[in-house]
Amino acid sequence: MNSVTVRVPAKVNLQLAVGPLRDDGYHDLVNVFHAVSIFDEVTAVAETGMSVRVEGESADQVPEDGDNLAIQAAVALARHAGRSYGVSLAIRKAIPVAGGMAGGSADAAAALVACNELWGLGLPLEDLMEIASDLGSDVPFALLGGTAVGTGRGERLAPLEVGGTFHWVFALADGGLSTAKVYGECDRIRQEGGEPVGHPRAAEPLLAALRVGDARALGAELTNDLQPAALSLRGSLARTLQAGRAHGALGAIVSGSGPTCAFLAESEAHAETLAAALKTENVARDVLTAHGPVPGPTVVQGPPGRAQRIPLSHDESGQS
Ligand code: C5P
Repeated sequence: MNSVTVRVPAKVNLQLAVGPLRDDGYHDLVNVFHAVSIFDEVTAVAETGMSVRVEGESADQVPEDGDNLAIQAAVALARHAGRSYGVSLAIRKAIPVAGGMAGGSADAAAALVACNELWGLGLPLEDLMEIASDLGSDVPFALLGGTAVGTGRGERLAPLEVGGTFHWVFALADGGLSTAKVYGECDRIRQEGGEPVGHPRAAEPLLAALRVGDARALGAELTNDLQPAALSLRGSLARTLQAGRAHGALGAIVSGSGPTCAFLAESEAHAETLAAALKTENVARDVLTAHGPVPGPTVVQGPPGRAQRIPLSHDESGQS
């Protein structure tokens, strides 16, 4: 068998607390990641060279050369293994591109898992995590899935036990936002305000709401320090968030660096009515429903006789 397909989820940030700008151009974070059921699929086929092809949601906005993070992941894995492996990657996108849902990071994580299988490397999660954190701040979480607190750049992860399933609505915007630009705008707004920026801290009430699976409490605790910057760069998002609140969302927030907006619903049925209302309001390019937490990258097709699910160490943590 010379082909492996991996399904990988998007993320939303439940708390994104951003500290001061560091000397290396990054910010220390407290980043509560939550994987949700919007999935990209990455298929890796054995080849002599390295190539990537992208189809699906906004595929025309994803590079198909060395700038593609999934190809960078495959190259980094081959280098780590010290061999000149080749692969042809096919990415089927559903996660919005440059949408604040870590779609590129998800594809990179899926490529690591797929190539690890395809090339028969059998590397443990810890090795893949190390490669992942060099690829981008969100790639380690994309390997892990579930719900986790990220610190440092977001790459140091502590998995969280979550006491239930949460139902979400996502409003997709026209065109993406550059993560670097949104962080830059956040710094600019803070500088202008002149307030000192404190060290980011995890919000205990939010963690408690997650532990017991209390959607109402979680909705009240959702925060995103990048939201003012995303709103400053994309003023129309204020109307999108307001429409969700008006239709009974328990919480309404920009997802990560945006421009996707996330709404927490009371139940699956409420998510469906909220999504229908947002579509009628015409405040988004598209509206999706999803649930979380969901597991990280999963092999959905690969060599016969192999486990369907990659045995990642967080499987024991009750995340699914
Ligand atoms: O790590 P990644 O390459 O995904 O980050 C993209 C950009 O987002 C960085 O170049 C930086 O401008 C910003 N960033 C940040 N602090 C973080 C993570 C990302 O400033 N913790």
